[in-house]
Amino acid sequence: MLKITIDGVSNEATSGERLIDVINRAGAKLSQVCYHPQLGPIQTCDTCMVEINGQLARACATTVSDGIAVSTKSEKAGAAQREAFNRILTNHVLYCTVCDNNNGNCTIHNTEKMLAIEHQAIPYHSKPYEEDHTNPFYRYDPQQCILCGRCVEACQNVQVNETLSINWEDPHPRVQWDGGSTIGESSCVSCGHCISVCPCNALMEKSMLGHAGFFTGLPKTTLADMIDVVKGVEPETGYGAILQLSEAESHMREKRVRRTKTVCTYCGVGCSFSVWTKDRHILKVEPLEGPTNGISTCIKGKFGWDFVNSPDRLTSPLIRENGKFREASWDEALDLVARKFSEIKAKNGPDSLAFVSSSKCTNEESFLMQKLARAVIGTNNMDNCSRYCQAPATQGLFRTVGYGGDSGSIRDIENAGLVLIIGSNTAESHPVLATRVKRAHKLRGQKLIVSDLRENEMAKRADVFLHPKPGTDLVWLSAVTRYLLDNGMANTKFLNQWVSGLEEYKKSLAPFTIEFAAKTCGLSEDTLKKVAHMIAEASGVCVLWAMGITQHSMGSDGSTAISNLLLVTGNYMRTGTGAYPLRGHNNVQGASDHGAMPNFLTGYQRVDDPEVRSRFEAGWKVPLPSTKGLDNHEMIDAIYEGKLKAMYVFGEEISLVDSNANFVGEGLAKLEFLVVQDIFFSNSCHFADVVLPASPSLEKEGTFTSTERRIQRLYEVLEPLEGSRPDWRIIQDIANRLGANWHYQHPSEIYREIASLTPLFAGVTYERLEGFKSLQWPVAKDGTDQPLLYTKQFALPDGKARLFPLSLTETTDQPNAEFDLHLNNGRLLEHFHEGNMTYRSEGIREKTPDVFVEVSPVLAKERGIQSGTWVQLTSRYGQVRVRALVTDRVQGKELYMPMNSTESPVNRLTSSHTDVVTHTPAYKEASVHLDVLQEVGESPLPRINHRFGHPTPQRGVEVERKWKRPDYHVPGNGNGLVQIQKN
Ligand code: SF4
Ligand code: SF4
Ligand code: SF4
Ligand code: FES
Repeated sequence: MLKITIDGVSNEATSGERLIDVINRAGAKLSQVCYHPQLGPIQTCDTCMVEINGQLARACATTVSDGIAVSTKSEKAGAAQREAFNRILTNHVLYCTVCDNNNGNCTIHNTEKMLAIEHQAIPYHSKPYEEDHTNPFYRYDPQQCILCGRCVEACQNVQVNETLSINWEDPHPRVQWDGGSTIGESSCVSCGHCISVCPCNALMEKSMLGHAGFFTGLPKTTLADMIDVVKGVEPETGYGAILQLSEAESHMREKRVRRTKTVCTYCGVGCSFSVWTKDRHILKVEPLEGPTNGISTCIKGKFGWDFVNSPDRLTSPLIRENGKFREASWDEALDLVARKFSEIKAKNGPDSLAFVSSSKCTNEESFLMQKLARAVIGTNNMDNCSRYCQAPATQGLFRTVGYGGDSGSIRDIENAGLVLIIGSNTAESHPVLATRVKRAHKLRGQKLIVSDLRENEMAKRADVFLHPKPGTDLVWLSAVTRYLLDNGMANTKFLNQWVSGLEEYKKSLAPFTIEFAAKTCGLSEDTLKKVAHMIAEASGVCVLWAMGITQHSMGSDGSTAISNLLLVTGNYMRTGTGAYPLRGHNNVQGASDHGAMPNFLTGYQRVDDPEVRSRFEAGWKVPLPSTKGLDNHEMIDAIYEGKLKAMYVFGEEISLVDSNANFVGEGLAKLEFLVVQDIFFSNSCHFADVVLPASPSLEKEGTFTSTERRIQRLYEVLEPLEGSRPDWRIIQDIANRLGANWHYQHPSEIYREIASLTPLFAGVTYERLEGFKSLQWPVAKDGTDQPLLYTKQFALPDGKARLFPLSLTETTDQPNAEFDLHLNNGRLLEHFHEGNMTYRSEGIREKTPDVFVEVSPVLAKERGIQSGTWVQLTSRYGQVRVRALVTDRVQGKELYMPMNSTESPVNRLTSSHTDVVTHTPAYKEASVHLDVLQEVGESPLPRINHRFGHPTPQRGVEVERKWKRPDYHVPGNGNGLVQIQKN
């Protein structure tokens, strides 16, 4: 600890701390326009000038040293601050009353007030540029841009998309996209970082424009006249009076604009933010305080919310009658569901019904669904879509370390010396998490190895990119592990102290030589050895993996191989190490955690454990079934076998996202009774007997659990759309019609019950999750959580981890002469899965209107294909017609098709083969035949898609270039002679 004085008052500071942070903590008022704690010092604005021991310095760029005396208010410092701010005003007109950014948080407005500058000392200069409206979500107004560079820093070094820069050498600097493109045609991925950090109205969400203020919706010409009036009166009245008026207007806005915290409904990263609404109009999404994401979002979390107000929303229950749907009242529909469930149970027994929970819905809703299945119906036929993706990863971790969740937090990934990404298109599937890896790689020298079939963005950035033959990751992982053991590079101390099963595991590695792996995987021996050495030499290794590993017939074994490698190298139990299966949906972790599985009650308590069951039976006062129920995959087979008669599916597009969609659809059609509960009339609704209209995340309360095991609360942003209801209410209504007698008034009451029955969540309460607070399970009764697992021991009975022996099996559905191409599939940044939500965003549709199949340049040449050529893909299971996109992201005879289509879903092509252990479909093992159709359309990706842009990577805002301008001088004495302390 150090001692410094600020304006004569003694303060404590930590060694290495930024002076500006200490000043802010002390509550001293200091202007600071370009500083943002999450961006660090940018040093473009000069408004944070302070006097330190008689010398001027930028507080944001100064590191505290013991005993310094700092004055924020001295004459010299004050003059410098005012001069700096006056220069900012040469780039910005204060028309706050008619500005959509006048919401109490405008940095320019607030700084103007703090410095009490009455008149513009240096005249405003307009810049010779027009506003840019070419992005569907936001616009840039160069006339109001103060060139603070926050947006550039965020784009270059937080999002690391490297689109933005400032042309400091130009007579009229401005923010540039790809060095001078329009925004629309640039590499901008519409993540929104730049807009979220812009301190004024230069970058703004289009959804704000004309909507936020009382006068901002006026016609442009009227607005321009009003702005001229403001400029006209300023010399006489001064800014004081003008600001008073605008503050009154700003206070009026507070009454009608709501700011509500929520958690993103898309991927498993778990970004949280405030949603600004005016009635049902979403003004903007404001990320700032989220424990995972801070200022970060991706296109979906920032802009992908139009679906909530889509006219396609279901607003009335539907009942199928004579092959057609008709609208019904809630009472009629719920009565029918209860009656049919009772009849089918009475006739065929409880196991003739099955329940599928939603990984998009809340923990409380999954809990209620499995309680309905188990306690009301009496069956363990209960599952969720982690069966389609994450179950093998969980299995790999159960086998080796104990808990089925990420072993640390995203912060621990940032701290790693080496990140190894396998079978994950992280930059598109988990965009905000990827930014943390990109940042550590760019700024901190973190090493990156990527293994994937496609040269995706992370692969392009990687120090080593491996392209193994499809389905062979287990082989090279095991071979590298063996090589490390054979060559004395294993962490023997860690193995001795913390790991069991070494000898048996070593025996299982016998076939996995480097030579064998090189041949089997199509990789060079040198590359594999290089990877082994990089892993051994790294200060800590985190492995990130996803569906490229799990969606294989040996998905569980592939995941286990990863954990084995981490154990052999001692990469658990400390920050910067560990296993990170990247959970796909916002609440896929939570759905499994909260009992939506055929073999587990909440917190992975086994249904066949008598002690567990008796605890739940005492709580619920009913006997519970004791044998494992059917998983999703087995449910479809059970329909064909005539054993399963009824299903209740909510928030899950089961007919398109399950593999071998034709088979699944025909199966669903055979059911005697199917209930589908969703926000839209999804494809699965076509097979339903009753459709129930649900409410999306923005219209309800509850909790989600992200990939980091982080439990977070979401609040009701909008009231449920008339006619729809939150899922937990619907499930409760059905349960009560079946005699359950539940009385939950609020999801917090449901969570109280979960915590009382589940040691893993014993200390989770809504109070401890208030606002942006979060907890990472396991959570002890006193509320202590575990951001990093295994710091004291592993979660297996003897406290030790276990090496799990593996053997090699063949992949399924392999190519042959007829089906000669390998088809890979996965996500796309802009769309979520089949696109039921994201296609309802006009802006996303404009940027990415359709699905496509990626074809390598080599194959395209061989078959006469160009981007836009229609092709027909035929597999052993079905056909789809789709346009080709020729790209070097894929190689040779490997194709890639994103999942975002309801018309040409990739799962018409995938098989019913599964991972042997978990029944997760082997989606990534598919072979197809390609027919070129005599039809060439437009490229499926328009020119305005970011993939056609040309980023301009640089170190950040590069303020030194500004300082070199002849018209720049350090504020304070006008001659640039004052000595400045830099950094
Ligand atoms: S990628 Fe686009 S939206 Fe994201 S920070 Fe860069 S310019 Fe802004
Ligand atoms: S657009 Fe960028 S440089 Fe301009 S004011 Fe906003 S954040 Fe600063
Ligand atoms: S990264 Fe995931 S959680 Fe974050 S905003 Fe994007 S979709 Fe939402
Ligand atoms: S806050 Fe802008 S230079 Fe320090």
